[in-house]
Amino acid sequence: MSGTYVSPRVPPGPAGTQSLRAMRDAPLEFVTAMAAHGDVTRHDADGEPVYMLNRPDLARYVLKENGANYTKDRTPDDDMLRPLLGNGLLTSNGAEWAAQRRRCAPAFRPAEVDRFDQVIVAAAEHLAAQWRGAASVRVDHDLTSLTLTVIVKAMLGTDIGGAGEGFGRAVDAVNRFIGHYVPSDDPDPADTAARYLGFQRARTFLDQVTHLIIAARRAGGAGDDLLSALLAEGHPRPETAPGAGPGTETDAPPGTCPVTGPGGMADVELRDQVLTIVMAGHETTAKSLTWTLYLLDRHPEAAAAVRAEIDEVLGGRAPAAADLPALRRCRQAVQEAMRLYPPVWLISRRSVAADVIDGYDIPAGSLVCVSPWVLHRDPRYWDDPAAYRPDRFDPEAAARHLSHQYLPFGGGPRICLGRHFALVEATLVLAVLLRDLRMELVPEFPVEPEALVTLRPRHGLMMVPRPR
Ligand code: HEM
Repeated sequence: MSGTYVSPRVPPGPAGTQSLRAMRDAPLEFVTAMAAHGDVTRHDADGEPVYMLNRPDLARYVLKENGANYTKDRTPDDDMLRPLLGNGLLTSNGAEWAAQRRRCAPAFRPAEVDRFDQVIVAAAEHLAAQWRGAASVRVDHDLTSLTLTVIVKAMLGTDIGGAGEGFGRAVDAVNRFIGHYVPSDDPDPADTAARYLGFQRARTFLDQVTHLIIAARRAGGAGDDLLSALLAEGHPRPETAPGAGPGTETDAPPGTCPVTGPGGMADVELRDQVLTIVMAGHETTAKSLTWTLYLLDRHPEAAAAVRAEIDEVLGGRAPAAADLPALRRCRQAVQEAMRLYPPVWLISRRSVAADVIDGYDIPAGSLVCVSPWVLHRDPRYWDDPAAYRPDRFDPEAAARHLSHQYLPFGGGPRICLGRHFALVEATLVLAVLLRDLRMELVPEFPVEPEALVTLRPRHGLMMVPRPR
């Protein structure tokens, strides 16, 4: 009826504006408490309403079925990542994102990714040798170095020489800044300023190295790496340069790549894409492995099953991609660790047009979030959710999971492009480490999750590597 005011159907949630500090100090408790209000909830944060979706079919709706109505533009992730990554796969939207995804996807097909098995195994063997005989090791740090080495080698080839170490240090500085990103209300502005300076220096360094590598690769021909695969993806350059981040300026005429001429991926896009993949492709995998080693130490039966499988399949030798199907328990140990401790614990979107979700009105421009942490621990979908039971991922059991009940890699068309890479890497690294070592938590070492950009152990993870 025209002229009749229909009051909006507002989802349940706590009254009043939530304290930013409470949300930041204990974000996991906060999202868990929100879910107790209902399947769709609303709270106010930073002066705007936030909608949380706490049911698999609702996650599927926003990420997949009506994904076109939900953008990453102006989400908290976007604000944090865009200054470094420009307009690469993680941050772009709409037609530009779809074109980028089409160009990058071939390089991430399983057959392509499996070619990096020896890069992964070599890095794992190196770490196992380093850990052997050590009194105790900082597992989370060492695994982050390992996954960074692997992604840089896989992405850029092995010939970056001395720049490799500097690259690692710069990525580290950027991670430190991003990892502690607090948009406002920062407890220590001086500390933030110092880290921001480090971030700017690191970003400039990464820009220069990435551009140098791209130029060298264009001049010297293809290598056997992801960058070469991206370079091979010829396409007409878009009218406007896609990179919105640093180094986006170009005076080449539209449709012409300044280096390759009228075909091939533009340097600006390549730079954004290379950094996106390096940044998206290491910290998360390192965290999944860190939590797996911790959980296996706490669950001796699951650990024994993993070790028995490794002995049977490898008999002491190094693994390769061909062993992956047989290393089922290793993979499941990682999958179950990512259920309990999903490295990406919150996925956010912004609605483009107004929508109705489960009967509630979602105004245009609203922040809408899905938390893998919440969905992965919901007793309606998981039997004894707190228990670490890798056999939940036995093929018959996994076939009974609902769509989007388990979403460590997100869902829908924007599902993680590197998910096969991540699982291959985590499985092979776990197989090498546990072939040689029994990892034990340092007695009394405190372990609790901290939800920053990724879900990490708040105090790191110190373990004692014992020979098997
Ligand atoms: C255990 C390891 C990993 C986890 C848990 C993970 C998780 C995720 C999640 C949840 C998303 C979707 C975010 C959203 O929808 O807002 C995503 C996207 C993405 N991930 Fe991963 N990731 C992992 C490893 C990797 C690796 C190894 C690579 C690359 C080698 C990678 C590259 C990407 C890219 C490029 C995207 C953006 C895809 C797009 O928007 O089209 N990730 N990842």
